[in-house]
Amino acid sequence: MLASFDCAGDESLLEGAAKCGLHLFSNCQRGECGSCKVRIKSGQIKLEPFMLSALSMAEIDADYTLACRSFPRTELVIVAETVGSTQARHYPRPA
Ligand code: FES
Repeated sequence: MLASFDCAGDESLLEGAAKCGLHLFSNCQRGECGSCKVRIKSGQIKLEPFMLSALSMAEIDADYTLACRSFPRTELVIVAETVGSTQARHYPRPA
């Protein structure tokens, strides 16, 4: 699936995608689980603090980042493994 979305500089990639109706897979949304990992094909981001258990230095060197902790600094091209419509996903609330 090829999709594009607008993302303001003060929005994470995860927030920007969701605002435009795209679901990038995520879980903790705090840089702790690694489930929102995406690959930056081109462009620059600002990466906010995260747990090294969620994203290793080797993954950073291979251009991976965490969508929940990444803020765009330029136009970006990213590769996300799991994308869909936010309206098509229904998750049960934690008890
Ligand atoms: S959602 Fe858990 S690290 Fe981004």
